[in-house]
Amino acid sequence: MEAKIKVDGLVQIFGNKPQSALRRLRKGKNKDEILKETGQTVGVSDVSFDVYDGEIFVIMGLSGSGKSSVIRCLNLLNKPTAGDIYIDGENIVKYDKKQIRKMRQNKIAMVFQHFGLLTHKTVLENVEYGLGVRGVDPEERRKIALENIETVGLSGWEEMYPNELSGGMQQRVGLARALANDPDILLMDEPFSALDPLIRREMQMELLGLQSKLQKTIIFITHDINEAFKLGDRVAVMKDAKIVQIGTPEEIIESPSNEYIEDFVKDIDRTKIIQAKNIMTKSTALVSLKDGPSVAVKEMRANGIASVFVVDKGMKLQGIVTIEDAIAAIKEKKKLEDILRDDYFTTSKEEYVQELIEDASETKYPIAVTDEDNKLLGVIVRSSILSGLI
Ligand SMILES: Nc1ncnc2c1ncn2[C@@H]1O[C@H](COP(=O)(O)OP(=O)(O)O)[C@@H](O)[C@H]1O
Ligand SMILES: [Mg+2]
Repeated sequence: MEAKIKVDGLVQIFGNKPQSALRRLRKGKNKDEILKETGQTVGVSDVSFDVYDGEIFVIMGLSGSGKSSVIRCLNLLNKPTAGDIYIDGENIVKYDKKQIRKMRQNKIAMVFQHFGLLTHKTVLENVEYGLGVRGVDPEERRKIALENIETVGLSGWEEMYPNELSGGMQQRVGLARALANDPDILLMDEPFSALDPLIRREMQMELLGLQSKLQKTIIFITHDINEAFKLGDRVAVMKDAKIVQIGTPEEIIESPSNEYIEDFVKDIDRTKIIQAKNIMTKSTALVSLKDGPSVAVKEMRANGIASVFVVDKGMKLQGIVTIEDAIAAIKEKKKLEDILRDDYFTTSKEEYVQELIEDASETKYPIAVTDEDNKLLGVIVRSSILSGLI
């Protein structure tokens, strides 16, 4: 798959002699050494990563690790000292002023930690503002702004001023403003860090909900590992201007690449991060409705299991049969349909393991993972939930 954004060897040095700092960086000197020797601050040191269309890519790291410096390069608010950034295959580092303006108007929008709203303008005017700059006519502008205000749940607040709104609501305005230009790419630099924990969680869930509809490509920055793992399809961990690991939340939890990341993940409650899809197994043992009880018995024996899910031709889940029932059915010449049970639990593949613990301790069957059409996607054996080894 072609990357939507490809960052290759990005370097960002702050100060008036970036080239001398860059030479030292190329020789393998680190951020501290370079600061001592040249007085230049390395914000980003040889960072490379790809982001795919529709992905939420999180950059996580402590304050000062270089997260903002990276994201500000992506819309050229910072001019990279070295390296290339390709968006849809075009190297934006080579863009002239006009191309940069066009990119910011059409392709990429940013949401800031401290909202960055115009305090003397209303909610509606704030959201309309970028459209006005682009020359969208007033009627159309209003229509688009109102739609986006509705999308972020602020209908009815259009005529208020930012300082009349709570932090969470102000950030909704920031989001509506960013969405108004219908950008492919959303850059979000710690957008929820200034909000209190409850509102923050609410905003995280709303962002996930929005994203499932809008399917933007999102680069999201946070210093909070729980936020990173909740939102990120993949997460890049930064330290001292470098990326030290990139992976899915599960990959990072399962095999942190160094002590620094181990420290980050050790207090994480895995059951809140790991989802059904991460621990389900593709059901190798399955029987079809048209099979008889003897096929079911064979299937269970071959796999060393005491119950088996039954599906129809389209993989739609029909029920489960147990070994006892199947054996009795053979003797009594019953069909599979006659012994189908429905006292099993199902879940979606996005469900967090934490939400499955209770079901797992109540049932004697595996949990079936199904899609909206009740198709069986996989099964989760109880031990993988309850053993805590996940
Ligand atoms: N405009 C700037 N001028 C000088 N140094 C800067 C500037 N912006 C950031 N830095 C430095 O670059 C490094 C990375 O900063 P930043 O990207 O803001 O980190 P983060 O967003 O992860 O907190 C820090 O050492 C910071 O002091
Ligand atoms: Mg920052």
